[in-house]
Amino acid sequence: MVVAKQIDVISLFPDMFDAISRHGVSGRAFERGLAHLQLWNPREFSTNPYRSVDDRPYGGGPGMVMQAEPLAAAIEAAQARQHDAGVGDPRVIFLAPHGRRLDHDAVMRLASLDGLVLLCGRYEGVDQRLIDESVHECVSIGDYVLSGGELAAMVVIDALLRQLPGALGDAQSADQDSFVDGLLDYPHYTRPEVWRGRQVPSVLLGGDHERIRRWRLQQSLADTAALRPDLLRNRDLSKEESVLLAQSLQAEQPE
Ligand code: ADE
Repeated sequence: MVVAKQIDVISLFPDMFDAISRHGVSGRAFERGLAHLQLWNPREFSTNPYRSVDDRPYGGGPGMVMQAEPLAAAIEAAQARQHDAGVGDPRVIFLAPHGRRLDHDAVMRLASLDGLVLLCGRYEGVDQRLIDESVHECVSIGDYVLSGGELAAMVVIDALLRQLPGALGDAQSADQDSFVDGLLDYPHYTRPEVWRGRQVPSVLLGGDHERIRRWRLQQSLADTAALRPDLLRNRDLSKEESVLLAQSLQAEQPE
């Protein structure tokens, strides 16, 4: 039996998650039961009459800080639900700009876990004691600041769902994606053969699968060298890849 990946999200804006639960590849993954998404609004765990979950920062300064207790109660409810669903050790992840930067390896690691509890911050931040007490790791989706963790959590969920077996349907596979083998994806083309005077590269029309494979690999290598040279520095090239990359660099040289 395939056990659904359990994903719980703590957010003041649970409706935002309709974007991934009702559309596209991620929506289908939930529909097919490959994963289960449960949203928790920390307001529901607030014990004060206004259902507020934030307060002014100790030490002064702008903005408000999310209080520890409603978040802890929401996280504990999510963990209890996951235990009931058979997850031994749900991992609590706080989405924040100071977290470890998300990349393909991190997505694969998260995709291998049975259960995740994603904590989305708002306002100026979250009381540090909650992070020290309840969070296993912090994840950032890039060096910029979003208005809250929701979009980052959706990025994490979307990226890991497409790695689940069966999420992409039979014809597609996530192992063709950019980054899987440490290179950017090759360019794609579809009908018509000529569009606004631009031709589809002739190698793709010939049906010679070995030539097509070599051409795509060469495009991946050339694009990676031009756009993301850092990826090539961390990766050993095979003999074939070195030759293809050298050829493409030579072809770019002016006469
Ligand atoms: N929350 C605000 N900015 C963020 C970022 N860059 N990554 C993850 N969570 C965030």
